[in-house]
Amino acid sequence: MLRLLMGMFKRFLLSIGLAREQITQQFVVNGLVTLQQAYEGIVVTGGTGAGKSSGPMREAILNLLHMGAGFLVLTAKSDEIEVWERYCKQTGRKMEPFGCFNFLQHEAETGGIQSARGLLTDLYDAINPGGKGDDPFWPNSARTLLSHALSSCYLGKGEVSIHDLVTWIYDLPTSEEQWNDLGWRTGFIGCCHEGAMSRGVMNKNRDFDNAFDYVRDFWPKQDQKVRGSIVAEAMTVLEPFLNSEVYSFVNGESTITPSVISEGGCVVVGTPVLKFRESGRLINIAWKLATQRHLLRCQSNRPVCICTDEANWFAVAGVDALVQSVARSSKIVNLMAFQNTPLLKSSLGGDMAETEVNGWLANFQNVIACQNACPITNKYFSTLVGEEMQLTFGGSSGGEAYDPVKDWLGEKPKGFNASWHQHMMPILPPNKLTTLKKGGPSNNFKVQAYVYCGGRKINGRTFALAEFSQK
Ligand SMILES: Nc1ncnc2c1ncn2[C@@H]1O[C@H](COP(=O)(O)OP(=O)(O)O)[C@@H](O)[C@H]1O
Ligand SMILES: [Mg+2]
Repeated sequence: MLRLLMGMFKRFLLSIGLAREQITQQFVVNGLVTLQQAYEGIVVTGGTGAGKSSGPMREAILNLLHMGAGFLVLTAKSDEIEVWERYCKQTGRKMEPFGCFNFLQHEAETGGIQSARGLLTDLYDAINPGGKGDDPFWPNSARTLLSHALSSCYLGKGEVSIHDLVTWIYDLPTSEEQWNDLGWRTGFIGCCHEGAMSRGVMNKNRDFDNAFDYVRDFWPKQDQKVRGSIVAEAMTVLEPFLNSEVYSFVNGESTITPSVISEGGCVVVGTPVLKFRESGRLINIAWKLATQRHLLRCQSNRPVCICTDEANWFAVAGVDALVQSVARSSKIVNLMAFQNTPLLKSSLGGDMAETEVNGWLANFQNVIACQNACPITNKYFSTLVGEEMQLTFGGSSGGEAYDPVKDWLGEKPKGFNASWHQHMMPILPPNKLTTLKKGGPSNNFKVQAYVYCGGRKINGRTFALAEFSQK
């Protein structure tokens, strides 16, 4: 009986145009997006309360949890942690206890100093999107300072933390006299240099030597105001991590790292943005950048999901695009939700925001659009779906009284005309997205959304109207 029903179900799926291999695969979005297709990225849009989190996001998360996927969950709202405890309980999975992750030390140890420097500059770029104004001097100088601080600390002492970088920067010599001062030489940077000598790094490692030259030859010769501005610029990425509420989550010995994710663990970042503000946001982004690098290196043999509800807080345009382009081979499912494109644009900021948002969005092949009152986002989805030739009709009767005898004799009434034209019109007009069901008791706990699947067809079209249960 069961086999008969399954057979009927498969025949039904075939009849609506789903390919055979899709049927035999596991679905991340039931009946529409398989795991293989989910590697091409899933993005969910919709206004506040449209049902993004409790509809499509919930369904994709539960399906991936059932499949045994590892998870990194970035958090914007405080209640997301409780929601995730429920998801894990429901699927028999365990949530890893959140703790300290010294991401700089971890990256330097596992990916090397260049990768750690790259991560730190990506983090700087994430919080200063598009750089500051037209003058690239300040962001470039800040990146250089941060990179040298990292090389000097890690290669000199063998360990590094955000706190170390700040101490190093505050200890920089402000004059040649200070550089030659014996007292200064026993300070923090002096210890890095001592350490480099005893570890055999001095004059052997170009990264360390460049940092050494920077401290001795470049920094003391700069104007005091210039130095102050470069430090202020670099501190934008370090200061939020020194906040007492979050300090212990990034400084010190790591108790949890992204390796648990590739081994199938669920890490829910314990510093939601709305509670921990900018510091919480930076910890979330640091986790994301370090996890992306880890996953690209380790080539996990199970699916891993980077899940970001309220993705506008955590988007890093360039890095996200790069990771998405190789997601399939690294088994990464990028699952994101955000409200509307103007919000995303304001988060990505900078002069390039428009291009960055379009480029960022173009990476995701699966787009799920819930109810939305934003005309720009609705237009975006409508454009994605495309246009088709449609017939439009027009005409008038000319206002003459109807004469049944003339009509019977086939005479055309005066002034009567009829016309039809072919126009390219949107297949799915933007206003169709304004009236979708948003869930809750009045909608029988059902959320409606249009699902766009790039490069393949469902029932002859590139999109389908789907319903998601909130229960
Ligand atoms: N598990 C649930 N059962 C019933 N209603 C829910 C559930 N979760 C959320 N809702 C309601 O459904 C609507 C959509 O919620 P939500 O998924 O949080 O929207 P969004 O994530 O788009 O802001 C809201 O009115 C919310 O109160
Ligand atoms: Mg939500």
